[in-house]
Amino acid sequence: MTELESRIDKAIGALELDAKVRLLTGASNFTLHPEQAIDLAEVVFSDGPTGVRGALFTGGRIACLLPNATLLAQHWDTAVATEVGALLAEEAAAQHVHVVLGPTVNLHRTPLSGRLFESFSEDPMLTGALATAYIKGLQDNGIAATLKHFVANEAETDRKTVNSLVDERTLREAYLLPFEMAVADANPWAVMAAYNRVNGIPATEHTALIEGVLKGEWRYDGLVMSDWYAAESTAESANAGLDLTMPGPAGPWGDRLVAAVHEGEVAESTVDEHVRRMLRLAGRVGAFGEERAWPSDGPAPDSPQRRALLRRLAAGGMTVLVNRESTLPLATEGKVAVIGRHATETVAQGAGSAQVRPPHVVSIADGISAALGADRVSVVDGVEIRSDPLTAAPYSLRDPETGEFGIRVTTRDGRGDVIESRYVDGSEVSLRESPWLASATTIELAAVVVLAEPARMQVGVRGRGEWTFSAPGHYERVRLERVDNAGEVLRLPYRTVTLDLQPGARITAVVTPEPDTPIVGLAARAAPKPPAAAIGAATWAAREADVAVVVVGLTPEQETEEVDKITLALPGEQDALVAAVAAAAKRTVVVVNAATPVLMPWLDRVDAVLWAGLPGQEAGAAVAAALTGEVEPAGRLVTTFPARDGDGPVWSPMPLHGELPYGEGIACGYRGWQASGIDPLFWFGHGLGYTQWAYGEAELTVDDTIRSVRVEVTNTGSRAGREVVQVYWRPEGEPVRLIGWSGVDVEPGLTASVEVLVEQRVLRRWHDGAWQWLPLTGEVLIARGLGDIRITLPTAR
Ligand code: BGC
Repeated sequence: MTELESRIDKAIGALELDAKVRLLTGASNFTLHPEQAIDLAEVVFSDGPTGVRGALFTGGRIACLLPNATLLAQHWDTAVATEVGALLAEEAAAQHVHVVLGPTVNLHRTPLSGRLFESFSEDPMLTGALATAYIKGLQDNGIAATLKHFVANEAETDRKTVNSLVDERTLREAYLLPFEMAVADANPWAVMAAYNRVNGIPATEHTALIEGVLKGEWRYDGLVMSDWYAAESTAESANAGLDLTMPGPAGPWGDRLVAAVHEGEVAESTVDEHVRRMLRLAGRVGAFGEERAWPSDGPAPDSPQRRALLRRLAAGGMTVLVNRESTLPLATEGKVAVIGRHATETVAQGAGSAQVRPPHVVSIADGISAALGADRVSVVDGVEIRSDPLTAAPYSLRDPETGEFGIRVTTRDGRGDVIESRYVDGSEVSLRESPWLASATTIELAAVVVLAEPARMQVGVRGRGEWTFSAPGHYERVRLERVDNAGEVLRLPYRTVTLDLQPGARITAVVTPEPDTPIVGLAARAAPKPPAAAIGAATWAAREADVAVVVVGLTPEQETEEVDKITLALPGEQDALVAAVAAAAKRTVVVVNAATPVLMPWLDRVDAVLWAGLPGQEAGAAVAAALTGEVEPAGRLVTTFPARDGDGPVWSPMPLHGELPYGEGIACGYRGWQASGIDPLFWFGHGLGYTQWAYGEAELTVDDTIRSVRVEVTNTGSRAGREVVQVYWRPEGEPVRLIGWSGVDVEPGLTASVEVLVEQRVLRRWHDGAWQWLPLTGEVLIARGLGDIRITLPTAR
């Protein structure tokens, strides 16, 4: 027995039942209870996966905002995933966070799912391999990873009640596989049980999955926690293998679990086992026994070192979807019109628990202007992209008293007397997370709108309650009610007006919040023009320039936790904007600022498309580096893009009578597309990069299984580039599947011999309760995405 295990034994022996049970529910949203008697310190959790936000949802610490998971996955590079894990570990250590709540390894089952931006891909093996590397990056640096959400959590609609109906084979071969790989190869110190039910049983109470598969067959020795508020039962969840319910301090365990033990419903040894796993986690992260020494300082989120890394991580994953006549990289001369609301109001991240508060977001307009020189670039706003104006961006408001970026928040009692007045660095406040707001009858939010010149602005308020709002020439009272189809925190009610404001204009809002109002804030942004006017101005600018770069995309209204999409169409009149620009411009480059597929009805009319994802804090700098070719956008898609709404093996994420059948079985994503015979807009694995590749001799090593593939690839273009050699297997009578890949950097004119090792766990079939090896009949495909198969080799000997 190791030293840690014997200390755990001793600690368990030293605690009474109620003290042990206390350790099994969070102490707060993101902490666990310390216990002096056994030398247990407070364990601190923070959401990932795109940054370490810390313990607060709103107004927390400034932290690095990474590119989103699909953009990182588009590198197809486990070394990048490890680098990301190591970066997150440093970010966690700087905040004294022990446990990061990521990676997310649920699959891209339908392109409509709101939370796809947070998970890697539609392929279980690619997902499992990237997650493994990411976990190693975190845990090799002493910070726990949390593999989530276990399991069959591929959509957001009714996420807390939906019953995912998945047959055993599909679970094993598709949805459990990334968990299986990560557990076997990286041993994440925590796993999070999902909100949904799996075949009728809540994931937090799923004995067969938690005790049977995870802890039994896979011999997982880490901790299983619930997703936030997911656990609702006492004995059922405790007996199923769930070790910890989150958050706390309230929850379904506590006294009720103590009583369940007294009544014989839960054995005390079961509680001990949960405590054992909790202490094992604490021991692994240095919170049990001798306390870990945290580093005294590290690079700040806006340090040159972090900025350079985040820019490279974003730019390298960006994907060239179309590039006619080598339109990209951009020429080193000529005028460029940068067009679109996403250029000025760039979307750097999705919405929900993964949200981070970055030091800045470099807009795409600013990034391109800085890279090309302001004299070459004109920036033109596009059409409206949102229905909700969102909270004012950092640097758009100033505290009227101190002049600092942010707002002035003043609380008053029932008689109207001031209780407290504070500067707040942001434009919203969380009533749940700011105790000083609790005693207020009214809260006043005041700010000066940052303007260099007179401008037409959209300003207003967000959050539930009775409001008065005043701005120069405007006063109104309004009552804002709960928005009922979305989460309380993610979708706030709002009221805005469009006003012509002068520099120095002050806006003041006073709210009488409701008892459970979560967040209140101010909205302020440049008012969008009506579509016809915006398109007119864009067309004019496009005509004047040598190249039009039109930036379109989704917003956190679509790419969000808790809500699924209903269409892949770009919001607003963005398609009309692209079509008009393409008709007017000499050359049109479309940059898509979104994590997950969108429709591109204008595709035949544009010269190039760069898929930019949600690029994180260095967004604009990364897009500029990719467009100019300073960094090759060498990404390959990690999900298949449909050409039309409704196409593809799985479309609707909507449960029917509470049930969501995974009827396509293992044929989700490209596997189902290949079988259907319908062509997608872009295949999984597609991505052009900036050079061309010729494939030469290929050789397959097969004994009793397929071991590896060796192939020669030649860079036939004029630039150095990275090729991702993808190897698929089409077993006879079974869906095609990715079985391996390898990335290689090659100088122009040179040839590399690339060896791709085959992942054995995708060569199996689950049948009648056991794994079988698939017969070796079939073909191996060496491809640049399934739309560009270069070599086909038979596998039968
Ligand atoms: C999400 C988890 C997240 C947790 C804590 C939940 O809503 O599903 O992924 O880690 O909140 O913020």
